[in-house]
Amino acid sequence: MYTAKRTSFLRLTTGALVGFAFLSFVSDINAQSGQGRGQGFRGGLGNGGQGNGGPGKGGPGRGPGMHGKGPGADLHDDRHDSDRDVFQFLLTNHEKIKRTVKELPNGVETLTESETPEVAAKIQEHVEWMNVRIQDTKPIRMRDPLFAEIFKHTDKIKMHHKDTDKGVLVTETSDDPVVVKLIQAHAKVVSGFVERGFEEAMKNHPVPDNKGTDVAPATPANPIIPNHGSVVQLPNAAHQPREGTKILIDVTRGSEPAELNAAIEKVAKYLNIYAGGGAKPAKGQFAVIFHGDATLAVLNDDAYSAKFKTNGNPNLDLLHQLHEQGVELFVCGQTLISKDAKPEEVAVFIDTAVSALTVVVNLQADGYAHLSLGK
Ligand code: HEM
Repeated sequence: MYTAKRTSFLRLTTGALVGFAFLSFVSDINAQSGQGRGQGFRGGLGNGGQGNGGPGKGGPGRGPGMHGKGPGADLHDDRHDSDRDVFQFLLTNHEKIKRTVKELPNGVETLTESETPEVAAKIQEHVEWMNVRIQDTKPIRMRDPLFAEIFKHTDKIKMHHKDTDKGVLVTETSDDPVVVKLIQAHAKVVSGFVERGFEEAMKNHPVPDNKGTDVAPATPANPIIPNHGSVVQLPNAAHQPREGTKILIDVTRGSEPAELNAAIEKVAKYLNIYAGGGAKPAKGQFAVIFHGDATLAVLNDDAYSAKFKTNGNPNLDLLHQLHEQGVELFVCGQTLISKDAKPEEVAVFIDTAVSALTVVVNLQADGYAHLSLGK
């Protein structure tokens, strides 16, 4: 069953002795074949594949190279012309190809086959090489937005292929919902190549819309701070919250003394976003520094009431909830004293810092992102 393929690789290898290294072939199928050899990207080096004495099979080698250029450009690498010949052969023979695509929650499973052995062998050859292009980020067809986007995310694509008697069974998956959409869109394009051949290959293909349009009815929720800073969950949107994020929120915005400071409400929203705005909760470290017009929002009830003639401090309840959720709360000692307040008058769960300056500088040095909530 490998004869046609081995022949085609022998032809390729012989024709390319100058400039191409013989390389090992890393693939699912190779485990059952003999000594692996094949044509690779220039500069690639590798050991011969391990064999069990079975029939040998050529295949792609792996290695750095492509004339020293990095990924990202539509490079005319050493495989470019051979790959183009294979595309053209497949497109010319598209009517002899049958293909089914099963969408999985995290990608696709595709079966692409032909009753004509030569076509079946070319499908297998194509997929092996495209697998290498994905693994090594060797882009191709970069004028087509969908393909260009796929090659930006190769590190998040898992591709497994297994030859069948008449072609190849491929599973392509990703843990990233945006990349899952790309994989599924690409599988549809390949099906278009099979149905319409060159007519489809001449077209460009758009990147699927990931702007959250597929989001189920967006119901505002408060995953971690009840009654404040509600959010909607966007599990498929770009830029999901990352585990381990550190954020320093710099609050200088003042408010009416009898009302909750809107900047503190915003901090609650940030916590809710990390707790439930994305596909899954991401634990972060949050710190807040109060200074400027926000300084006195941190006073205890007695001190606040005395200063503003209110019945307690309207910010304390939410500040306490933030504290309970692990948010570190600081007030600038310099501003506090300049506003005739004392560290003893600050709510007990809020720390007085030497200054906002030192908090910002120290926490930025510790890797915190700095967000300003000013006027
Ligand atoms: C009739 C023609 C073609 C057939 C039968 C075919 C078949 C396949 C198959 C079976 C896969 C594995 C992924 C999947 O099944 O969805 C694949 C991947 C790929 N093909 Fe093709 N293909 C054809 C034409 C082309 C052309 C014209 C290009 C580019 C110029 C191309 C570029 C790629 C690339 C870059 C991949 C890997 C990317 C990925 O899977 O996400 N193919 N092809």
